Amino acid sequence: MNKKKPKILITEPIPETVIKHLREFGDVTVGEKGLFQSEENLLEEIEKFDALLCMLSVPVSESVLKKGTNLKVVANFAVGYDNIDITAAHSLGIKVANTPDVLTEACGDYAMGLLLALSRKLKEAEKYLRNGNFDGWEPLGFLGMELRDRNLGIIGMGRIGQAFANRAKAFGMNILYHNRSRLDLNTESRLDAKYIKDPIKLAEQSDVLSLNCPLTESTFHLVDTDFLKHMPEHALLINISRGAVIDEAALAEALHDNVIAGAALDVFEKEPGVHPRLLSAPNTMLLPHIASATHRTREDIGMLAAEAIISVLNGKDDNEIPNLITP
Ligand code: DGY
Repeated sequence: MNKKKPKILITEPIPETVIKHLREFGDVTVGEKGLFQSEENLLEEIEKFDALLCMLSVPVSESVLKKGTNLKVVANFAVGYDNIDITAAHSLGIKVANTPDVLTEACGDYAMGLLLALSRKLKEAEKYLRNGNFDGWEPLGFLGMELRDRNLGIIGMGRIGQAFANRAKAFGMNILYHNRSRLDLNTESRLDAKYIKDPIKLAEQSDVLSLNCPLTESTFHLVDTDFLKHMPEHALLINISRGAVIDEAALAEALHDNVIAGAALDVFEKEPGVHPRLLSAPNTMLLPHIASATHRTREDIGMLAAEAIISVLNGKDDNEIPNLITP
């Protein structure tokens, strides 16, 4: 007798190899791009599924989880999981997994790329050339910040923060950091990183400040008007964590008023919306949340999420399920 295959919803197209892998195991539905960014659409469909492989843009709220009466596992196609109501999931007995590690190097590369592009004004310089303004080498054109000997302050010294620190160290930067808990001394000395307990003090000492922390109650709008006032005027801000770590209205004002010298933002509080004042802010790079966007990483993320789903649906013990988020 044929056993009924479990039903798996992948909320939008992901690398085909991952879909194929899951199809060997279950009955897979792949949603249209963006369809399940709406809670309403998810509420309509979720009841049919045993497993949900969702994007970070999908709001897996308490109502969705309650409606998902057949749901056993939610695997987020991301390391950050602030889109999922974890408390509700746990109280309903639904397992949740994320995908750390596999995106660390891609995100470290990307943060370094943003820093280089921002500190050397590559966006403005390219626009200048394309607009036909390049009329010969200029000794004073597009002077930027040289990274050597500058302080890079990192808020959130987890895997991605450390990957960025390693790269920045190779460019001669000094590494300062703030983290929920201090790193062990071996890791600190390997990274040559100095712990600063107070984020405001870190802001004061950072020529470049990078946000690499998860979005939590304590990091929500951490970078606000007051925080920005403590940053040096020449400082640059990089955010590849979550948009809501920054009060975007406050940042837009600070950029327009030259309180800080520039920002590179990969993430926004109300994605895909971008605060309108940020769109016109000087020396600001705005990117569509692509820190982990390499072929290799996106496939690895998908495979990890798929493995979590397969393990849960196969009834594996919690300690055998990859990257289970524990209560
Ligand atoms: C994640 O996986 O949480 C990141 O935001 C990807 O860029």
